[in-house]
Amino acid sequence: MDVNLETDFLRVTEKAAIAAARTMGYGDRKHADKVAVEAMRAEMDTLDINGTIVIGEGERDKAPLLYTGEKVGRGKAGSSGMHEVDIAVDPLEGTNLCATGTNNAIAVLAAGTKGGLLHAPDVYMQKIVVGPTARGFIDLDAPVKNNLRRIAKAFDRRMEDLTIVVLDRPRHEKLIQEIREAGSRIKLIGDGDLSAGLAAAIRGTHIHAVMGIGGAPEGVITAAALRCLNGEIQGRLVVMEDWHKKRLEDLGISDHDHVYSTEELASGDDVIFAASGVTKGDLLEGVRYFKHGVRVSSVVMSVATRTVRFIDSVYMEEEGELEVMR
Ligand code: FBP
Repeated sequence: MDVNLETDFLRVTEKAAIAAARTMGYGDRKHADKVAVEAMRAEMDTLDINGTIVIGEGERDKAPLLYTGEKVGRGKAGSSGMHEVDIAVDPLEGTNLCATGTNNAIAVLAAGTKGGLLHAPDVYMQKIVVGPTARGFIDLDAPVKNNLRRIAKAFDRRMEDLTIVVLDRPRHEKLIQEIREAGSRIKLIGDGDLSAGLAAAIRGTHIHAVMGIGGAPEGVITAAALRCLNGEIQGRLVVMEDWHKKRLEDLGISDHDHVYSTEELASGDDVIFAASGVTKGDLLEGVRYFKHGVRVSSVVMSVATRTVRFIDSVYMEEEGELEVMR
């Protein structure tokens, strides 16, 4: 993909984050998501791409914008010479986090060449996520304690010195108990296992792994980030309800036990990942508004160019004089 697409996609998550953050604390998660979707979609349509949403806001009948299968970019209007890309979006990961002003809501997307991102159904996924230090040390099928022992070994520290992020859900009661018995520290989060997976892959965030069951689409986008950061995710689709089973059948997925690797979830040689902070987080600052401008912090990375950029952007209003601080 053209290297300019990295900054193009960065702008897309920045615009979504800026729009969503305006609704922070309003207690309306649907509205927060809606404005993020609208902003993301509007910006995408300015890009020189012939894009297909492969992971979006839902099926066409349920999501008016950024639905799975939707065409985005200038290519859909017939412009020629556009980059063919598949795109996975989560315009607002952590709708509740934004609605309540809680940490770690992000606007995020991953893009790849055709077929480079698994078209994961909107079901759950059992996941284990680590950064480059513990890559190769995890096994989704191994007991929790074994994984913790091996992650600790990779970090050359005791299990007691690890911090594991787990979504605070009743389904994780046993997992939480097992982590506690092993002596590792737990950070329970209300939402946002994608943002946590991203943080786990970057040293200095003090998060060593993410474990538990979250959304499968989030698993694919996490895998795209981990491809760029040399981290690892292992994931297994989880059927919790009858319609999940039907969904997998429709997609021809019969092996429910299959453990997907990072490379199966995000297989492309050319994968771009961009995320912008909506509320303040472990990795990214939240959006900050000023009298004549707004500041947003992001990470944009690429497998092909092997770059990870932390970007702090200031958008100035056309009128008015903003003094930019460093
Ligand atoms: P939203 O972005 O829809 O608010 O959901 C965020 C999230 O917490 C994900 O990070 C996670 O993978 C998933 O929802 C967990 O689903 P559930 O809330 O059903 O347990």
